[in-house]
Amino acid sequence: MNKHIQIWRAAGPMACMLSAAMLMLPLSALAEAPLSFAKSVQPILDANCLQCHKPGGIGYERSGLDMRSYAGIMKGTKYGKVILPGESYNSVLVQLIEHRANPTISMPFHKQSLTPAEIATITRWIDEGAKP
Ligand code: HEC
Repeated sequence: MNKHIQIWRAAGPMACMLSAAMLMLPLSALAEAPLSFAKSVQPILDANCLQCHKPGGIGYERSGLDMRSYAGIMKGTKYGKVILPGESYNSVLVQLIEHRANPTISMPFHKQSLTPAEIATITRWIDEGAKP
């Protein structure tokens, strides 16, 4: 047997295991990666909330909720937090976008609701710990 073939034989099982691992890694990474605020949530809030929830906007002026940054959103309003990491159902922000609170303060205020997919993204992000 020539040397080349011997090396190939030895590498065979190892190569098999490696390619199996390489196939499985990206799949499990996809299933388990928590949503990121910057990538998944901020674009939704920027498009639907930010205009009112920054200094000079009516939402910021009335409630104190500043949506310009992750830190501002986690800080909440002058009354308290609007996001409870791990508890989307009890988070005020979700209660408002799901119209579960006082209908006069549903968010976005006097505008079209977020889509079910957008709401699902936000609730999943909160339930995964509301990471930056
Ligand atoms: C057209 C302006 C406007 C837009 C757009 C808007 N808001 Fe507001 N938001 C307000 C106003 C006004 C208040 C204060 C309501 C009050 O207490 O009378 C408020 C208050 C809030 C509060 C605090 C409620 C409380 O008192 O505890 C949350 C949370 C909130 N908004 C979330 C959002 C989210 C999330 C979006 C986007 C999906 C959004 N808002 C879009 C105007 C807006």
